[in-house]
Amino acid sequence: MEHKRVSVVEVGPRDGLQNEAHTVSTQDKVAFVDRLADAGFRRIEVSSFVAPKWIPQLADAQEVFAGIHRRPGVEYSALIPNVRGMERALRCGIDAAHVFMSASETHNRKNVNKSIEETFSALRPVIDLAHTEHLPVRGYVSTAFGCPYEGRVPAEQVMDVVKRLVDLGVDEISLGDTIGVAVPTQVTGLLAGLAKVLPISRISLHLHDTRGTAMANVLAGLQAGVTCFDGSLGGLGGCPYAPGASGNLATDDLLYFLTQMGYETCVDEGKLAETAAWFESVMQKPLPSHARSIARKA
Ligand code: HMG
Ligand code: MG
Repeated sequence: MEHKRVSVVEVGPRDGLQNEAHTVSTQDKVAFVDRLADAGFRRIEVSSFVAPKWIPQLADAQEVFAGIHRRPGVEYSALIPNVRGMERALRCGIDAAHVFMSASETHNRKNVNKSIEETFSALRPVIDLAHTEHLPVRGYVSTAFGCPYEGRVPAEQVMDVVKRLVDLGVDEISLGDTIGVAVPTQVTGLLAGLAKVLPISRISLHLHDTRGTAMANVLAGLQAGVTCFDGSLGGLGGCPYAPGASGNLATDDLLYFLTQMGYETCVDEGKLAETAAWFESVMQKPLPSHARSIARKA
C-alpha cells in the first residue's frame, strides 16, 4: 500500500446523536468530545448548527462548543446548512465549516427543504464567509451511492455536484453513503471518475453500515488512495430525513481494521475502548459496533 497514514474524522457527536431518541445532556456531549480529543482524534465534528425544529437533538450546539476544553492540534468542526447557521457557528469559534447537500434531488429537498440548485445558492455565502475567516470547508455529498427515494444515483450526477462544490471553493469532499447501499465496485468506479475532478487526497468516505458493506468499501477506498475516513464511535448515526438509514461505520471497528492493516492513526486504542464503554453507559443501550459486542462478552 502506498499511503500509510490515514486520518479519521470522528462524527459521533453530530451524526451519531442526531437521530437518537434518547436525549443526551449537554454535559455528556461535552465530555464525549473531550474524551475523543483525549483519545487522540484530531478532527471531531462536534455538532450541527441546523434548525433546532429539524434536529432537536443538537439544539444545544452553542452550549456544547462553550463547554469543550480545546486541545491544540484538534480541529473542532460543525455541520452548517445556511448563513444563519454559519453566523451561529462563527460565534462559537469553529475550526472548520462542514456544508452538506445531496446528489439526488428528492433527498436534498427532504433534508434541507430546497432544490439542489437553491442549495448551491444557500451554500455559496457560507463558503465565502468561511474563506473570509480563513476556515477550511468540507462539503458532504449525501446519497452519493444511492437515495432512499430515487434508488441508485448515477456517478455523473455525483460528479456534477462535486465539481460545483469545488468551484464554490470547498477544500475537501466527503462522499456520503447515506443509507449504506454502496458496494466496493461502485466505490472504485466513482473514485476513478472523481480523481479526474480533484486530487484523491481531497476526498473522504463517509460510510453508513446498513448492509454490512462499509468496511469492504473502506478497503476499496484505500486501494484507490483515499486517506481520510469518517466514523462514529460505537456505530450510532443516520440521517432522520433518509428512511432506512442506519449507523455510521463504527470508528472503533474502523481503527482496528486500519491499525491491523499497518496504517498509522493518532488514536490510543485503550482510551478509545474506555470512551466507547463510557459512551454506551451514557446512551443506556448496547452500541452496534463489533468492538463493543466483543467487549460486552469479555
Ligand atoms: P426551512 O424550514 O426551509 O428554513 O429549513 P427557514 O429558513 O424557512 O427557517 C425555518 C425556521 O428555522 C425559522 O425559525 C428559522 O429562523 C430557523 P422560525 O421563524 O420558524 O422560528 N432556522 C434556523 N435556526 C437556527 N439555525 C439555523 C437555522 N436556519 C433556519 N441554521 C433548513 C431549512 C436547512 C434550516 C432545515 O431544513 C434544516 O435545518 N435541515 C437540516 C437537516 C439535517 O440536519 N439533517 C441531517 C444532517 S445531513 C446528514 O446527516 C448527512 C451526512 O451525515 C452525510 C451522509 O451521511 O450522507 C452529512
Ligand atoms: Mg451521515
